[in-house]
Amino acid sequence: MRGPLLIASLAAMSASAAAEVGPTYVSIGRDALPTALDVASADHAVLSFEAASGDAVVLGIPAGELEHLSQAMHAAHGRCGGFMAHDSLADARAALAPPTPEAPIDYTLDRGDVVAAVLPGIREDGILATIRALSSRKNRYYRSESGAAVASWLRDRWRGFTDRDDVTVELFDQGYPQRSVILTIPGTTRPDEVVVIGGHLDSIAPGGTAAGAPGADDDASGIATLDEVARALLAKDFRPERTIQFMAYAAEEVGLRGSLAIVREYQRRKIHAVGALQLDMTNYQGSDRDIWLIDDFTSPAQNRFVAALIERYTTATWGVDRCGYACSDHASWHRAGVPASMPHETRSRDRNRNIHTARDTLEVSHNNASHAVKFARLGAAYAIELAKGTLGPAAPPAQAMASAPATTPGAPIALWQLAGLVLSAVALIRLSRRVV
Ligand code: BES
Ligand code: ZN
Repeated sequence: MRGPLLIASLAAMSASAAAEVGPTYVSIGRDALPTALDVASADHAVLSFEAASGDAVVLGIPAGELEHLSQAMHAAHGRCGGFMAHDSLADARAALAPPTPEAPIDYTLDRGDVVAAVLPGIREDGILATIRALSSRKNRYYRSESGAAVASWLRDRWRGFTDRDDVTVELFDQGYPQRSVILTIPGTTRPDEVVVIGGHLDSIAPGGTAAGAPGADDDASGIATLDEVARALLAKDFRPERTIQFMAYAAEEVGLRGSLAIVREYQRRKIHAVGALQLDMTNYQGSDRDIWLIDDFTSPAQNRFVAALIERYTTATWGVDRCGYACSDHASWHRAGVPASMPHETRSRDRNRNIHTARDTLEVSHNNASHAVKFARLGAAYAIELAKGTLGPAAPPAQAMASAPATTPGAPIALWQLAGLVLSAVALIRLSRRVV
């Protein structure tokens, strides 16, 4: 193995670099190399060239430079341009390899009754209020105080969705002020299979911690959409067969860092995610059709399932488009072989040009959430049809019934049932690490 090639020398650590210690490694398109070089030389920061494969390269860069890199990528490439930030060189090198192949999944639609019972409970005004609450903060930058506070705020809000003891809401710590938030509804019969619905909690604009970055569309809209899906499902006491996890990822805007950390942890613990739906930008209607399924860094099979859900359960129109790079957290799951989809608010050429500025406000979407509500209906249908399940308290699983000692309906809970409950609670608590 060849040692890193130092491209720029460290004259002085920039103020932002000092805030987060140590190097980080980015996997990035080869065409973005000049942009990365400009960023490093402007800040007198060390950049090291570590590896290359095909169109992608791995660079070592101080963690504090990620914000500058993110802004420079945005400015230098006509449209946004992605990169993934990794905590270790091994992870970054792994990102150059082709994605892990996906295992086949049964996408049969057979829960029409449950979907029909849940969809009328999805409320546009709920989504609107959440976008307003999120975007009225100064910013949700991953290293700012307000970015950290919004995670605790969302955790507390989600904890208010239900009194059920089996549902948990935890923070996932990644070593910087903002933490990811994860709400878990445990599966009744297939708790080891996890369905993920995510969006990113952070926002960004030039100036980092000091900037005004309302991020109403990018991505308060996505968080508000999945928030409404979780609320509506729990309001109906949904009991999924597979475990469902709602994830508000930290630090997407600086290289998908929040989702990459979660995916790495799930791989390490062999947690089996069977699908991931990414909701990133749902409330700006700029195209002739409603929902655009992103066809790169996503799963063709799951995308067909999502298209079938749109057709069966919504009146929305849809089309297919692409980002052209790893533009959001679905790419983190896709890399790990988890079928991922990203239904988006516009096609790329019609995209909302206000994102990553102080102008990404609700006014741009005319102070309503009429577009996002279509994505919430889709999200609820996705959760129900992929995780399966029923409304109201779950019937005991058929297998357990057959082998378990006979109990009278309505009888006090048996010891074996109590032991089962305790074991599943322990398993679920361990699903999210570093519980706060
Ligand atoms: N929401 C955007 C991605 C996006 C923008 C998708 C416009 C479709 C249309 C996301 O938050 C973002 O800004 N991503 C970065 C890449 C990321 C890896 C830093 C981008 O696009 O530059
Ligand atoms: Zn963004």
